[in-house]
Amino acid sequence: MDSFEWNKIFGAVLGTVLFVATLNILINGLMSPHKAEKPGMEVAVAEDTEPSAGGGTEPVADVKPDWGTVIPVADLAAGEKVHTRCQQCHDFSKGGPNKIGPNLWGIIGAKHAHMANYPYSPAIAALKDKDWGYDEFYAFMKNPKVAIKGTKMSYAGLSKQEDRINLIAYLRTLSDAPLAIPAPNPAAPPPAEGAAPAEGAAPADGATPAEGAAPAEGAAPAATPPAATPGTAPVAPAAPAAPAKPTGAPK
Ligand code: HEC
Repeated sequence: MDSFEWNKIFGAVLGTVLFVATLNILINGLMSPHKAEKPGMEVAVAEDTEPSAGGGTEPVADVKPDWGTVIPVADLAAGEKVHTRCQQCHDFSKGGPNKIGPNLWGIIGAKHAHMANYPYSPAIAALKDKDWGYDEFYAFMKNPKVAIKGTKMSYAGLSKQEDRINLIAYLRTLSDAPLAIPAPNPAAPPPAEGAAPAEGAAPADGATPAEGAAPAEGAAPAATPPAATPGTAPVAPAAPAAPAKPTGAPK
């Protein structure tokens, strides 16, 4: 009799545990597809969202513009405006002084650590044989400390892709011999616009199945955990697929 009572209690506890465990699996199953989608989507939105305050949040996942396409149509006036944010530390005039940071006349296409009379950090000095090409400059502007670990440039970066593009197009003109603009590569995703559409296309395909899958599973809870994996799978490949485009090909 006593043991019956205990059995009931034990049964109730076991049932509760099972129920909670199942709920957990369910929730995880429902959540994980979303988690999987996010990285893919963040790429498209990244420029606008991340505050760049957190050092090293996500060092990659930025679609590089096709410079041959974006530079000719960039907004130079807007770029000039952006560059005023740098003037606190940088002089941009020809033969101008170093300030907190080095003079930046002719920086686009120059070598790293291009000012012989400026005391660079070892991090930048070590790159002195490397050009400040469009890609390098673009990455550095997004988040200097992530792009070049150890730089002493204390600047959070420009989170907006269009700010970086306009700035680069403007700074390019501050030179005796502006860096050549590569031929447009139509295969590569177009400018700011391109970031959204190009990726929109890939994730859209991936996202739709993934979402379709999730609800379907919701109907049949038992299937949730395994199904979550398939849902993840399509999304993950989608991301690698995007980088596959031959952005740097025409170099
Ligand atoms: C708070 C001051 C500060 C601000 C603001 C700042 N920089 Fe700098 N910048 C520096 C310092 C300091 C260095 C030297 C970094 C090193 O040696 O690691 C530097 C280095 C650089 C370099 C490397 C130059 C070379 O010769 O290799 C570039 C490019 C650059 N800055 C661009 C910019 C741009 C563009 C902006 C504005 C969007 C900007 N910086 C804003 C302080 C600043």
